[in-house]
Amino acid sequence: MEKGNKIYEGKAKKVYETDNPDLLIQEFKDDATAFDATKRGTIKGKGSINNYISKILFELLESKGVETHFVKQIDERNMLIKKVEIIPLEVTIRNIVAGGMSKLLGIDEGMVLNEPVLEYHYKNDALHDPLINEYHARALGLIKDEELNIIEKKSFEVNNILKSFFDHKNLYLVDFKLEFGRHKGKVLLADEISPDTCRLWDKDTRKKLDKDRFRRDLGDVEDAYEEVLRRIKG
Ligand code: TMP
Repeated sequence: MEKGNKIYEGKAKKVYETDNPDLLIQEFKDDATAFDATKRGTIKGKGSINNYISKILFELLESKGVETHFVKQIDERNMLIKKVEIIPLEVTIRNIVAGGMSKLLGIDEGMVLNEPVLEYHYKNDALHDPLINEYHARALGLIKDEELNIIEKKSFEVNNILKSFFDHKNLYLVDFKLEFGRHKGKVLLADEISPDTCRLWDKDTRKKLDKDRFRRDLGDVEDAYEEVLRRIKG
């Protein structure tokens, strides 16, 4: 499948047209940003690792009945995806307190939550992806009620599947962010699922094996991404 025009370039990925109007190519970059791109850097090999990890996780989810935009891996950095209209909501699910929730509510990182917490953030960098609730999402016309029900149900399903998968790899799935898109009347899981978009901690040592190593200058960033790929391949 040949790359056509580039139609989008984000912080971590580029998206290209193909000769099929329903399909796009998503290319994963080594670029990393944090704090609304005020911190920038590169993580060597991240693009190919995140492409591979996302492929494995999308295939896992598809095998459990969660429909995604993933079609196939093309090569190291590129995956073929279904063209979707991205819904401008970032869905975050948290199993353990960290990052934004720790800051917002003044709770130490590491508290295991009694039940998973689902958050919606309005996808808008200029506003720093503000936390909103489902009333905002509906009232602002970002999403229809039926779609909101679908993404809520799917997000908890994804959490159950991924939490158990990572548990077998001796990793805690602390939290993660999902994006969904519309494709031919269906709502598909889109974007990527990788250590850029999940927090993963080693179960024995609680070592962070995700983008927090870059955000917080903890070192061993590349090694952490490689370690996640090694564990989930094994
Ligand atoms: P947060 O604690 O900073 O809100 O992040 C929650 C999860 O979402 C975490 O796993 C990292 C992921 N995330 C993204 O994928 N993109 C983002 O822009 C942010 C802020 C977080």
